[in-house]
Amino acid sequence: MSDPPAESLLDLAISLARQAGDIARAVEGRIEVLRKPDDSLVTETDHTIQEHILAAVAEAYPDHAVIAEEPARTSDAHRKLDPSRYTWVIDPLDGTRNFVAGVPCFATAIAVLDHGRPMVGVVAEHRVGHLYAARLGMGTTMNGRPVRCDEPDPAADWLLAIPSSKDALAVAVIRRWAAEDGFVTRNLGSMAFHLALTASGALTAAFGTRLKIWDLAAGWLLVTEAGGRITDPFGNPLVPFDLSADPNRDIPILAAAPNAHARLLETIRSTQA
Ligand code: IPD
Ligand code: CA
Ligand code: CA
Repeated sequence: MSDPPAESLLDLAISLARQAGDIARAVEGRIEVLRKPDDSLVTETDHTIQEHILAAVAEAYPDHAVIAEEPARTSDAHRKLDPSRYTWVIDPLDGTRNFVAGVPCFATAIAVLDHGRPMVGVVAEHRVGHLYAARLGMGTTMNGRPVRCDEPDPAADWLLAIPSSKDALAVAVIRRWAAEDGFVTRNLGSMAFHLALTASGALTAAFGTRLKIWDLAAGWLLVTEAGGRITDPFGNPLVPFDLSADPNRDIPILAAAPNAHARLLETIRSTQA
C-alpha cells in the first residue's frame, strides 16, 4: 500500500476522537462500571470506544498496527501488534476514574507512529470540549487555534501537573516542588490532558512516573510541536518508542517549555527519592 498522507491520518484521528466524546457523553449518568483483573476501574464505555476506533482504523488502514489499552474481548477484534511502519496508539478514555465519578476531565488520546515516532497526535477532552491536534512539522492546535508551550515569569506563577502515583520518585518530587520550592501544583486526573494543557501553555509542565505508551504518545507530539520538550525525568529521549517492548511498561516523563524543562530537570536530579 502507498504511504497515507499525514493529513488524512490526522483527519481520521480527529473524527474518531470526536466520536469517542459522543459515545462517552451519551452514557453519562448510566455508566456501566467494570473492574480489571488488577482491580482498577474500567467501564463498558472504554471498551465501546476502543472497539469503535479499532474497527474504523482496520477499515481505513488494514495494514497498520495498533496498540490499544484495553484487552481485546473478541477474537475478531482489530487489535494487532504485528510490526508495521505505521502504528496507531490508542487510549480510548484517559481519566476513567473522573468519568465514573462525574468529574469533568476525561479524554481520548490517539497517535499514529511512523517507525516508532509520532507523526500525528490528538487528545480530545470530552466534557470541557478541548480538542488538541498536531501533525509532524505543522504545529499544535487547540480547537483549530495554534498554541504554544509557555513559561510565565516569575516561576511562582508556573502550574506544574503532578502524577497520582505514589511511588518513591513521584512522592519525593511532589514534596520538593510543593513544600520546598513553593511551586503551584495541579492534578486533573488525566495524564493525556495534562500533556495537552502543557502544549497550550495553560500548564507550565507535566510530570509523571507511571505512564503507559497510550497515555503519552499523542501528548509527546502536541508538546514537541508546541515548542516544548518532553523527555524522561532525567533528560533522556522517549522516542523512537520501542515497539517490541511490553506495551504495559511504565514510562516516566517530564514535559515543559524549554527553560522550565531544564530547571525542573535540575530539581528532579537533585531530589533524593
Ligand atoms: C489514568 C490517568 C491518570 C493517571 C493514571 C492513568 P486511565 O489513565 O491518566 O491521570 O494517574 O495512572 O492510568 O486509566 O484513566 O486511562
Ligand atoms: Ca490512560
Ligand atoms: Ca484508559
